[in-house]
Amino acid sequence: MTARTGWLPRSLDEEVPTAARVYDYLLGGAHNFVADRRLGERFLTALPSARDVARLNRGFLRRAVLALLRAGIRQFVDLGTGIPTAGSVHEITERAGRGCRVVYVDREPVAVAHSELLLRNDPHATMLRADLLDPDRVLGHPHTRRLLDFSEPVGLLLVGVLHFAFPQDRPEEVVRRYRDAVPSGSFLALSHFTADLAPENMRQVVEVMRGSANPVYPRSHAEVSAFFDGFELVEPGVVGTGLWRPEHAEDVRTPGAEQIYAGVGYKP
Ligand SMILES: C[S@@+](CC[C@H](N)C(=O)[O-])C[C@H]1O[C@@H](n2cnc3c(N)ncnc32)[C@H](O)[C@@H]1O
Repeated sequence: MTARTGWLPRSLDEEVPTAARVYDYLLGGAHNFVADRRLGERFLTALPSARDVARLNRGFLRRAVLALLRAGIRQFVDLGTGIPTAGSVHEITERAGRGCRVVYVDREPVAVAHSELLLRNDPHATMLRADLLDPDRVLGHPHTRRLLDFSEPVGLLLVGVLHFAFPQDRPEEVVRRYRDAVPSGSFLALSHFTADLAPENMRQVVEVMRGSANPVYPRSHAEVSAFFDGFELVEPGVVGTGLWRPEHAEDVRTPGAEQIYAGVGYKP
């Protein structure tokens, strides 16, 4: 994206890289600016497998949504959606047939503007510009209330996003609030950066992302697992994204397959 297009919000600051646009760059998307690409290149120096790490995270999202569909989930809240790219949640669910509904939540202007444009004629999906760390606003929003039925199980997706929440944001309380809002039979799918396996690379990633709108806070296996408090982890538990029910040998073998932990939990 080199020239400003009509759908971009006026308030956009192109000089400050955002996680959504750097991730888009790493995934080969076109919705990023010079500053995002520069930071993306520094990210690649810090973590040479970053493109694979991003792709594996998308792969986990897809496999987790398919697993939830097989478990009967028909409504999703995708918290920290990112910029729509091939394989968005509503595209995955559409293939499963009618009746799936998706509420997307993000606060990054390009992610929101692009999603709103894509979804403008879709009665089954909506985009909220909101801070996911404010569950009452997300859950109480008229669009959420219109689209979702909280007496039926919900798929909560927190994929590649809680590492942008620092301890002072009390992310465990945020997850608890979402968990308490959904009925038994609901699921949580979550993935999260860790420094457990390559501490020096992750130290550099943290340093690089300090120069963005979204600094990163990696967590240990125990800390990521704790987000599933009140959920029963489904097999294979909290593992690297590439190891979560892999479909191909490359998922497991790819460098970076374990830079992000992933898991799915069931609310009994
Ligand atoms: C790395 S992207 C992940 C996108 C997608 N979930 C995936 O895994 O492919 C993280 C997204 O979370 C969004 N995000 C981070 N913190 C957020 C917050 N507090 N509220 C809403 N969105 C947030 C960012 O703007 C970005 O679009």
